[in-house]
Amino acid sequence: MMRFASTFRFASPLRDAVTSTRFDDRPPICDYEGSAYQSEFWEKGEREYEDGAEAIALKRLVPRRGELLLEVGAGAGRNTSRYAGFERIVLLDYSHTQLRQAQARLGWSGRYLFVAADVYRLPFVAGLFDAATMIRVIHHLAAVPSALAQIRAVLRPHATFVLEFANKQNLKAIGRWLLRRQAWNPFDVQPVEFAALNFDFHPALMRQWVRDADFTIRDQLAVSYFRLGLLKRLVPLGWLIGLDARAQWTGRLFPLSPSVFVRAQAPGGGKVAPPGKFFRCTACGCDDLKDNGDHLECPECGRRWAVRDRIYDFKEPL
Ligand SMILES: C[S@@+](CC[C@H](N)C(=O)[O-])C[C@H]1O[C@@H](n2cnc3c(N)ncnc32)[C@H](O)[C@@H]1O
Repeated sequence: MMRFASTFRFASPLRDAVTSTRFDDRPPICDYEGSAYQSEFWEKGEREYEDGAEAIALKRLVPRRGELLLEVGAGAGRNTSRYAGFERIVLLDYSHTQLRQAQARLGWSGRYLFVAADVYRLPFVAGLFDAATMIRVIHHLAAVPSALAQIRAVLRPHATFVLEFANKQNLKAIGRWLLRRQAWNPFDVQPVEFAALNFDFHPALMRQWVRDADFTIRDQLAVSYFRLGLLKRLVPLGWLIGLDARAQWTGRLFPLSPSVFVRAQAPGGGKVAPPGKFFRCTACGCDDLKDNGDHLECPECGRRWAVRDRIYDFKEPL
């Protein structure tokens, strides 16, 4: 079961939502500890179409090659093998359960590093990664600007960031609103929290947030237009994915799909992590953690971060 640390609502229009830091101190977390999300939602949920459409979007947006990629909210590693051109991949997730499932799926390989941490407190030195992805995660985030700032900080100059978000301005929501079967207005820029810690976002607000985090938007794809039970039953899977592949380009003009993928780029200037530096203490920021085998120790504040079952754990110190 997913648990919610607390609830949160965006209460302000576009500009206020962009600048507000009121809720950023301790944003609530949608906790997937103990969740069977991968098997229940993907494997038993008949979502081969959505998965195939996302695979195509990722192929189009993620760089073909690279050194070090950060997968934020990696879950059970459903997408990790799609980043095959990267030498090393860091799978970060708040949930140990999800990371253990990812380990079972991906096996042991020096290419993968598993990190339990909160996207609002990333345990990496600045300028470390040459790419990052965050797929199907931001809809759980109540403080989007804080999360984007954290991701931006750990990226190198010119790094690519691929982000997926749930689009409130989608055809189904527009239809339901016009027929008065849905109270919230899909054209309103405010996020809608349709269930606790589940947000749909307006593309204009998301683009604004991404730019405010000092990214340049390079591309945008509209994904999963045909997410309807009847269509999925009637139309062969390959056709539906092929149609989606053709329709994805509409995202560049006016995305009306339930899912939107954005490729953003970090600016040219900025920090590059010094050789040999990797983790930082999330409590005090020290980037000189001492590796003691079963834990990392911070020489500045004395906090100790566990390394258990090949998972670096930065959720709480020992
Ligand atoms: C819907 S799942 C998506 C998993 C994967 N990206 C995929 O597309 O299959 C959302 C994931 O985000 C993680 N998550 C949610 N809030 C987080 C946070 N604040 N920090 C890190 N991970 C978080 C959850 O633990 C969960 O594994």
